[in-house]
Amino acid sequence: MAGTNGKHASTLRYAHITGWGKALPDRVITNDELAQIVDTSDEWIRTRTGIRRRRIAVDPSETSATLGTKAARAALEVADLPPHKVDLIICATSSPEHTFPSTASLIQDGLGAVNAGAFDLSAACSGFVYGISLASGMIGTGQMDNILVIGAETLSRIVDWSDRNTCVLFGDGAGAVLLQASPVPGGVLSSVLGSDGSGGDLLILPAGGSKQPATLETVAAGKHFIKMDGRAVFRFATRVMAEATLQAIEKAGLSIDDIDLVIPHQANERIIKSSMRQLKLPEEKIFINLYDYGNTSTASIPIALCEAVEQDRLKPNDNLVMVGFGAGLTWAATAVKWAVPGAREVPAWRVHQRSASYGLAHVRSRFLRFSRKVEGSLVTEDGDAWSEVLSRRIENWRRSREE
Ligand code: COA
Repeated sequence: MAGTNGKHASTLRYAHITGWGKALPDRVITNDELAQIVDTSDEWIRTRTGIRRRRIAVDPSETSATLGTKAARAALEVADLPPHKVDLIICATSSPEHTFPSTASLIQDGLGAVNAGAFDLSAACSGFVYGISLASGMIGTGQMDNILVIGAETLSRIVDWSDRNTCVLFGDGAGAVLLQASPVPGGVLSSVLGSDGSGGDLLILPAGGSKQPATLETVAAGKHFIKMDGRAVFRFATRVMAEATLQAIEKAGLSIDDIDLVIPHQANERIIKSSMRQLKLPEEKIFINLYDYGNTSTASIPIALCEAVEQDRLKPNDNLVMVGFGAGLTWAATAVKWAVPGAREVPAWRVHQRSASYGLAHVRSRFLRFSRKVEGSLVTEDGDAWSEVLSRRIENWRRSREE
């Protein structure tokens, strides 16, 4: 399936999901544990959201980029693709490591994906589906062949652990898929993207951007934590999930009966069930795993996709819909014909080869950092490169001999 950029521009191309992977922090936090830090209970959280536990990145060295890198490596493993063949890395995230550089660039470095472009995508919890839509467009138009779409989050770092309205909802983790060009019909059939910025204040990280840069006041006022009007988001979500799902199905030329599985954004069991009831979709066609992970924002759909595959909930030629909603406000849905059989057997030597290549990627990254430092030390304050300084000295020396 791999090829050269633009090589197949004139032939029909389809974007298939050929690899998938997830990464979750080890530490599990149960509802009972949360009840020890805020005024809540296991019973309240379960009945209002469905969530029983979530994973939290307690180790500071575990970040959105490290989780994203792990998930991406797992996706490349399934697709049996070496990182140097990846053309583009799109990382959807609501908890990027920095405003810049992009988390996608850090993942590119971690993978040693030396031929890949990389950027972050900001569409909150809809971001992963936005990424799928973008990647399939790039593949369909022949610009690229192999694109990683990643959702990676460490929301625990931007959650106010004293606010029971939000801290019980979110979790950390990452999921990734590899989209590859193929002449085989199927793959991403349609996508629907939406936004209503008038609802931007309903779910917001108020400070830390250019509107309210970090100050002592913003920190003291807790403006670097997620703020949410839960009821308003609930109403928006139940309406928009059903509408977007239906639009994606119709755009793909399918009917609701043709759909084999829906993987919705894993925010709240009640939102999911109420949206899907509107579509009269039977519960066995809806994949829910938020019980164990809570809302992992951009990562929730790809993590759920991995578990759906692990549980044999997807067969070749099944019609799948992935649908998300989130801050912005945004929403997105995509219909996919699942044309890949289950995970392939990859020979052990190739797994070893790839893990050695990740070791090399680490060494390469260290070397590049070091050589940039050396290069910097050879540049004078007025910006002249060392070579220019040298040639000036040689010229002076020549002149002094001639005099
Ligand atoms: N434990 C106990 N009580 C809690 C609580 C908690 N963790 N969080 C809120 N409450 C309280 C509220 O303070 C409120 O008390 P009050 O009536 O005295 O003011 C009461 O529970 C009921 O709040 P309400 O907002 O009616 O609950 P709800 O049934 O709407 O559920 C949410 C609240 C947040 C679970 C629900 O609105 C929701 O899921 N919204 C969408 C959020 C979301 O998905 N965000 C991410 C989008 S990507």
